Amino acid sequence: MTGLDNIQVPQTQGVKYAGSKLKLLPYIMSAVKSLPVRKVLDAFAGTTRVSQAFAQSGYDTTCNDVAVWSEVFGNCYLVADKPDAFYQKLIDQLNRLDGYDGWFSQHYGGEGPEGHRPFQLHNTRKLDAIRDQIDRFDLSWPDKCVLLTSLILGLDAVDNTLGHYAAYLSGWSARSCGTLELKLPRRFRLTTHNRVLRSDVFEALRDRYDLVYFDPPYGSNNEKMPPSRVRYAAYYHLWKTVILNDRPELFGKSARREDSRDAVSASVFEEYRKDADGKFLAMRAIDRMLAQADARYVLLSYSSGGRATREELFETLQNHGRLLSAVEIDYRQNVMAHIVSTRQWLRDEAAPHKEYLFLLDRR
Ligand SMILES: C[S@@+](CC[C@H](N)C(=O)[O-])C[C@H]1O[C@@H](n2cnc3c(N)ncnc32)[C@H](O)[C@@H]1O
Repeated sequence: MTGLDNIQVPQTQGVKYAGSKLKLLPYIMSAVKSLPVRKVLDAFAGTTRVSQAFAQSGYDTTCNDVAVWSEVFGNCYLVADKPDAFYQKLIDQLNRLDGYDGWFSQHYGGEGPEGHRPFQLHNTRKLDAIRDQIDRFDLSWPDKCVLLTSLILGLDAVDNTLGHYAAYLSGWSARSCGTLELKLPRRFRLTTHNRVLRSDVFEALRDRYDLVYFDPPYGSNNEKMPPSRVRYAAYYHLWKTVILNDRPELFGKSARREDSRDAVSASVFEEYRKDADGKFLAMRAIDRMLAQADARYVLLSYSSGGRATREELFETLQNHGRLLSAVEIDYRQNVMAHIVSTRQWLRDEAAPHKEYLFLLDRR
């Protein structure tokens, strides 16, 4: 991996998201820059910020994630191709709507001093009106995704949470007192061949790529969150409901969708148990994923985790190619160091603000 001099990182946009790689983009782009690659897969795309950076840097980009919100963001930024004015007109229309009490207000809107709801009622009333109107528009799926992305970004700016929807703040955050307003997402000129998938990673790996970037769920690297595992379906259930507008059965204090229960939707990568041989199940999945990747280069992000998972990860990486570089990034201080001694790396205590990036050549 080269240094960060002369690295142009395109601007990207995204919601607050546990594990978002916004701060790591310079390192990711630097790792990829000098490689002979054209077709890339962002296999766990989340906010799609990495995909947005890839596409703007000239790579044919496939963006994949199991989550429907990620598919929506991907279509907004990588596929929707109408001029800005087309979407702006619709967004202006949505902003002019009068709000009313509907399903979202009933379950997610609050007023009075208490809080404990993700949004203030004046905003869920707008949400009810806007979401119903989006369904009334006769739009293609990518065009609808631009409006849904705009709505989710707008909601993200007035939420009453610490960044996820598994719990809500008591009282009201300053942000939540604002008024929901839709803005045109920050799209860019499409010059590459992009695709968006909503598949399990093993499904997405059926195709060939020059490079695959893997950013599977590990522990959280968000300071505001506990260092425990992040359960994406549980944390961002509300984005799924806003997108599907399907009025699902809800449960619990944070009114989560029934299908966001761990038993139904947890990912194998969020699994922190070991198998009968004492190997972490999540690590087994990573091993299988690296084995299946049909790509010359693999870039893997890793954050948090104890020594045991590090040792297993290192062993796994070495089984699947030649390690071209391994870097440790202190993302709070924007400092990067090359990992020169794996023994030292394995011995170090895991610091919550460190991220690791491994580049493998599998030839
Ligand atoms: C660490 S986040 C990725 C963050 C992303 N790189 C960004 O910058 O926003 C991990 C993502 O993996 C997705 N995910 C979990 N299990 C998956 C699976 N089996 N296949 C594909 N995606 C999965 C989650 O929905 C989540 O968005």
